[in-house]
Amino acid sequence: LARPLVVVGSANADIYVELDRMPKEGETLAARNGQTLPGGKGANQAACAARLSFPTFFVGQVGKDGNATMLRDALQTSGVRLDYLNTVSGPTGHAIVMLQPNGLNSIVIVGGANTAWKKRTGSSSIPVQAEETIRKAGALLLQREIPDDFLFFVLRCEARSYFGCLFRIAREADIPVIMDAGGFDSPIPEELLKYITVLSPNETELARLTSMPTETTQEVVRAANKCLDMGVKQVLVKRGVQGSMLAKADESPILQPAIPAPAVVDTTGAGDTFTAAFTVAILEGKEPAEALRFAAAAASVCVRAKGAIPSMPNRKAVDEVLKHEQYV
Ligand code: RIB
Ligand code: NA
Repeated sequence: LARPLVVVGSANADIYVELDRMPKEGETLAARNGQTLPGGKGANQAACAARLSFPTFFVGQVGKDGNATMLRDALQTSGVRLDYLNTVSGPTGHAIVMLQPNGLNSIVIVGGANTAWKKRTGSSSIPVQAEETIRKAGALLLQREIPDDFLFFVLRCEARSYFGCLFRIAREADIPVIMDAGGFDSPIPEELLKYITVLSPNETELARLTSMPTETTQEVVRAANKCLDMGVKQVLVKRGVQGSMLAKADESPILQPAIPAPAVVDTTGAGDTFTAAFTVAILEGKEPAEALRFAAAAASVCVRAKGAIPSMPNRKAVDEVLKHEQYV
């Protein structure tokens, strides 16, 4: 049996407003449509891995409201284990997703329960069950929508919090850490970087991380190399329609073109899909180049429908895209 993936991060109710264009300052604009759908980078990545039939746990927090129920349902239906999904008082995190007709979006997030993590004291609060789960995990998958000081705190393993102790256990058990750089735009604390096995930024995040340009492939390679110098073991860069790249120290980078979708409806969660699908493929023992192709196919499915979690592919959908790819 595969060692499960443990995703630690955010869960959001994505409040969609569909617009013909972005509003100007001081302007009131009527949306063409609006709806609330399950999302959040942590929940998205957990849902994606589980839908690809990989055993997945989600460690996160929701509030006490209808959005929490929606997220629990969506995660459960996707097959995610919710043993460590905490409920705290107050609202569930949410995101305002302004979706434009070309499928591109602008997102504003409200932390809610995602930023209300408490550093609880005493290791006695860890259920024996959770300890066992982490010890047996194949990988830890993180993003940046829960507080950095929390991630920093837990990865340094000086933590005595509930979740912090889980990380300490993970570190002792030498479990790879994959971190999606998406979320807060503050710099990643330098000391955190050396605990990261795979750092996965998009080109904007890569530019921010390195203070280097990331427009051309050559620039992306240079910036990724800087991340490697900073202590990260591998860099997985997501470049949207320009494809993706995996860089490791002392190896030439592997490039993967994007796999086009017949129509781009909504790109929300495509990056999460990519990171999660790549992680699953690697955990299944696929070669890096094959894992990149698998992830590109998964992301291509995600952009074809509205919503982050509602558009996440299952294995069959990814295989269909890959099969078709061989003939184009
Ligand atoms: O990465 C996409 C996600 O970012 C959305 O689901 C939204 O919740 C924001 O967190
Ligand atoms: Na989508």
